[in-house]
Amino acid sequence: MWNYWTSTFLATFIIVALVSVSKSVFPYLAADCWYCVELLKLVWRFVRRRRRKPLFFVLDRFLEQRHKHPHKVFLRFQHETFTYSAADHRSNKIANALRAHSRYTSGDTVALFMANEPDFLFTWLALAKLGSPVALLNHNIRSKSLLHCFNCCSATVLIAAAELQDAVEEVLATLQEQGVLVLLMMQHCDTPGLENFSDQVERASDSPLPRSLRSNITFKSPAVYIYTSGTTGLPKAAMVNQNRLLKALAVLSSNGVVSDDVIYLNLPLYHTAGFIIGFIGSIDTGSTIVLKRKFSSSHFWDDCRKYNVTVMQYIGEVMRYLCNTPQREDDRQHKVRLAIGNGVRAEIWREFLKRFGDIHIKEFYASTEGNIGFINYAGKIGAIGRVHFLHRMLFPYSLIRFHPEKEEPLRGSDGLCILAPRGETGLLVSKITNTSPFVGYVHNQEQTEKKKVHNVLKKGDVYFNSGDLMMIDQEHFIYFQDRVGDTFRWKGENVATTEVSDILTLCDCLKEANVYGVQVPGHEGRIGMACVTVKKDRQFAGSEVYNHVVNHLPAYARPRFLRIKEEVEVTGTFKQVKVQLVEQNYDPSRVSDPLFILDDKHKSFVPLTHHVYTAIISGLIKL
Ligand SMILES: *[C@@H]1O[C@H](CO)[C@@H](O)[C@H](O)[C@H]1NC(C)=O
Ligand SMILES: *[C@@H]1O[C@H](CO)[C@@H](O)[C@H](O)[C@H]1NC(C)=O
Ligand SMILES: *[C@@H]1O[C@H](CO)[C@@H](O)[C@H](O)[C@H]1NC(C)=O
Repeated sequence: MWNYWTSTFLATFIIVALVSVSKSVFPYLAADCWYCVELLKLVWRFVRRRRRKPLFFVLDRFLEQRHKHPHKVFLRFQHETFTYSAADHRSNKIANALRAHSRYTSGDTVALFMANEPDFLFTWLALAKLGSPVALLNHNIRSKSLLHCFNCCSATVLIAAAELQDAVEEVLATLQEQGVLVLLMMQHCDTPGLENFSDQVERASDSPLPRSLRSNITFKSPAVYIYTSGTTGLPKAAMVNQNRLLKALAVLSSNGVVSDDVIYLNLPLYHTAGFIIGFIGSIDTGSTIVLKRKFSSSHFWDDCRKYNVTVMQYIGEVMRYLCNTPQREDDRQHKVRLAIGNGVRAEIWREFLKRFGDIHIKEFYASTEGNIGFINYAGKIGAIGRVHFLHRMLFPYSLIRFHPEKEEPLRGSDGLCILAPRGETGLLVSKITNTSPFVGYVHNQEQTEKKKVHNVLKKGDVYFNSGDLMMIDQEHFIYFQDRVGDTFRWKGENVATTEVSDILTLCDCLKEANVYGVQVPGHEGRIGMACVTVKKDRQFAGSEVYNHVVNHLPAYARPRFLRIKEEVEVTGTFKQVKVQLVEQNYDPSRVSDPLFILDDKHKSFVPLTHHVYTAIISGLIKL
């Protein structure tokens, strides 16, 4: 008896000891195992869906949800509420109206030009029912860009929101020359060449569309075209085919979002984050979407309370904007339990949790056209993901050494790329394979080729160049460092613009900072310049900013010039716009905003006069 209890006790003791030792030696063992299971489940579900007959697409998942819970709320927008069945009916009406149109044939590519509103989602569903690929146009673009985006995916129909009538009329002559059918979502319209489509939709039947309309669609067929805003030049259209869209379907369900969740969608629907993650992701979970016309930091939490939001999405600067709002007593009164997105920096992450309570942040990394993604499943603050053998086996990727000025990979004497060691920043490249293909940009072979890197680890292999610089630490966590082009060199040192801008915004009087490098005659590289905004109730204090900069940044990284603007310009996904700022640089005759220069003698940022500017340009003042 004694022996029995002793051995049981000893065995228990040994197991407990082993578990706690392994927990301290392998602190992420449980998370790694969980991820392994989740990844296998994900792959298994995808493979099962791919094997279904007849072929199973994202639309079919929506129809499944619609039959499962027709009376459940699918969408809330302002004061309107749509159930799954109402959404289905509305999209049937749109589809039937279009199908009845003499100038439309099912399968034609249609461009959608609309801001965030319910009809955006219903029109997409309608077009999916008709087997038409959809180009998601950015509703902020105009004239030449609009025509470029419309034309590059060979669309023959344009469906636009009523409020964009002026923008459409601007390019109408060209569209008419090309024989494009232009439909406006409005009741009444006098402009010749524009059709009042709402009227046709109201009169159309809401009966379901026959499946045969989609019989020619395969997994390789284009589903949507999403435009990626390059830092220079015109947008490029990335083709998302049916296979890729089906893969993306599980983006929320595999991250713990369930049917009872209410998802707050306030990012633009014409981009991947809003469309794929917010909308397509919710179709798989069968959740409720709360749609907003656009992100507003001042209404954010009130909306979350009003609609009982449980899952929020973020991107880029959203978290910072939220942290910048004035503190309120009810900051922690909400039901948000999960935040999914990418681009939150570690300090903001901590501040966000401290202020708004225990929200599980799932930071991930992905790009519209890329063939690799990561998810920070272990909840490590600041990381975007973790190296995992299974993930790496399925989607081989590497970090390689990179030449910051030439902006291309470094190569060894054998012509192959050089792996960046642990702890060193390298360029993320991921192997192009059948499981992780790179479809490329539409009608843009040159840009597509540019994103490929050949002969990376072996002669003949091909990788996708993500354009993102990352670092893997000793614990196998992956950290996003920079976007290629977001770094410049000054005095032989690399300056990371995002780091400098993070430090600037910690200065008491500054709200936002957009950092870039500008050229100075007679100097190699670029010197730092920042376009900043000042906090509402504060004034720009030159010596305060000077002290902050000198205390926190090495000499080469300090922004020498400051430009003060009312607002920092951002793209639809809150990426800062730099091209024009770099071009206008620090010339007081070209910039009407106040300009300042760092002055070590006066220990302050002082106004940049024409006199000083001329002295810099002529080389009298050395920087
Ligand atoms: C819509 O346009 C059609 C044809 O151009 C016209 O007959 C109809 O009256 C218009 N509807 C409204 C509500 O203006
Ligand atoms: C499918 O393709 C065939 C052959 O190209 C064509 O005849 C048919 O009309 C297509 N069906 C649909 C619904 O587009
Ligand atoms: C939010 O939840 C409360 C309490 O559970 C409920 O009374 C209210 O109707 C809900 N609001 C919405 C928009 O679902």
